[in-house]
Amino acid sequence: MYIQRYFLALCLCLAGFSTTVNAQGPYPIQKTVMAQHGAVVSAHPLASQVGLSILKNGGNAVDAAIAVQLTLAVVFPGAGNIGGGGFMVAHLSKGQNLALDYRECAPGKASRDMYIDSTGKARTDWSQEGHLACGVPGTIAGMFAAHRYGKLPFKDLIQPAIDLAENGFVISANEAESLNENKKSFQQNNTGPIAFVRADRPWKEGDTLVQKELAATLKRIRDNGAKGFYESRTAQYIVEEMQKGGGLISLEDLKQYKAVERPILTFPYKSYTILTMPMPSSGGLLLAQMLKMVENKPAMDSGYASGAATQLMIEAERRAFADRATYMGDPDFVKVPVDALMSAPYLASRMQDFQAGKAGNSKDVKAGVVPHESMETTHFDVIDADGNCVSVTTTLNGWYGCSTVAGKAGFLLNNEMDDFSIKPGVPNMFGAVGGTANAIAPHKRMLSSMTPTIVLKDGKPYLIVGTPGGTTIPTSVFQTIVNITDFHLSPEDAVNKPKFHHQWLPDDVALEKGFSGSTEAALKAMGYTIKHWGGIGRTEVIAIAPDGTLEAVADGRGNDSAAGY
Ligand code: GLY
Repeated sequence: MYIQRYFLALCLCLAGFSTTVNAQGPYPIQKTVMAQHGAVVSAHPLASQVGLSILKNGGNAVDAAIAVQLTLAVVFPGAGNIGGGGFMVAHLSKGQNLALDYRECAPGKASRDMYIDSTGKARTDWSQEGHLACGVPGTIAGMFAAHRYGKLPFKDLIQPAIDLAENGFVISANEAESLNENKKSFQQNNTGPIAFVRADRPWKEGDTLVQKELAATLKRIRDNGAKGFYESRTAQYIVEEMQKGGGLISLEDLKQYKAVERPILTFPYKSYTILTMPMPSSGGLLLAQMLKMVENKPAMDSGYASGAATQLMIEAERRAFADRATYMGDPDFVKVPVDALMSAPYLASRMQDFQAGKAGNSKDVKAGVVPHESMETTHFDVIDADGNCVSVTTTLNGWYGCSTVAGKAGFLLNNEMDDFSIKPGVPNMFGAVGGTANAIAPHKRMLSSMTPTIVLKDGKPYLIVGTPGGTTIPTSVFQTIVNITDFHLSPEDAVNKPKFHHQWLPDDVALEKGFSGSTEAALKAMGYTIKHWGGIGRTEVIAIAPDGTLEAVADGRGNDSAAGY
């Protein structure tokens, strides 16, 4: 009944607004929506629809963002979460900016060498799978911290997620396949039956995924607030599961967890103002460095995917990622020289050895660490009728996190501990070398690349942007912004045109499928090693025209969907 109501509302909302409808899967997907009052774009059509109904029912963009985050925890269990963490960047209509950090942190019993075995080997299997991989979840603390800026009662924001968990939602062929593919990992990493594994047969398209235990967990949050998660039966379930599987999270860790409002990272780029996430995400600072290294450079006039502009951007990406390796970590634990790393003289000196037409070389750059990060994260944007803008990137790290459900609490836990440098000073499985700024310490937050961003033009919201994609997050956000501000692509093209990625180490350029063949040949001739990737990012954008028209664009690479009115 509930599903039918949603489906009907979704179809009604499509009428007249959608420019692209993809009918794959049980729910229609809208790739581009033009709207006047408010818009939402997220990785799942049901989540976008829930956000839209909150806006239409008098909620502001923060309310809608909370409802979307909670709904994604039900309908997008691979990355949507209450067992992980994230970052929210907001620009409120009265001019206030908000950077909310609800990143997971290391448990109190964590230690620097916890993933080194008795032979001295770094065990990425321990940091990526199962109970020991799990950091203290931050999402629910983040949602209550955000709610200070909302208008509607929290119970109204969480109810759609409760209903979808309780009554279930119909899954697509891709979702069924993904759950089936992960079955072995679910079975290995759980100590009891979980909603994501069917005992009778494999999942198939059209099945309904019901999550009764998750619904009960969400009801405890609805009825008891953040304590309903951090100091309740849910907390006991998490800790019992940890004890059964060798994880470290304690009741005290959960009780102590706090979301933190941080001073937003802001800087000018050309005539725009960029608002983005500060540490413990490296994403905002990398974005600042990359944009400032290419700002007003003549090569950028050559346009999207030109050899000259692409090479310049690759070299900016290389240098920014080398700095990430050495300097960046949780600001509550290490002093990150943010101002110095963003200063014009420093960035000019970084690009001094840039040679147009000749590939740079990562061997000549002082080594640090590029920690492995999974591609699996999710991003969403919201804008409301008053012009409040919210940009959120949230993650379990890996797809389905550590594959462990928090016992009878019914939700998947993160494997965010792998975002630390698990063995500082020693090459990791990807050939990157570790530094100390991002070493593990009790209660420390692991370095992230998530880059939720808002771009202002003449002081007014112009773009809301972000993406999943691990270390490709800052480079995808960088490219999406310059695609619009420098290369004058439409928001739809800026999102969907093929992207590229360089992260210092390994010293190669990843080109997304469909990237210009002639530019690839030119890059090879300059001396770059080229790798081919199927997809880079799943970028969501809301562009705001000077007359206030909203263009919400959902990335064509997935089943992401926009909604608006
Ligand atoms: N786990 C992905 C990130 O935080 O960047």
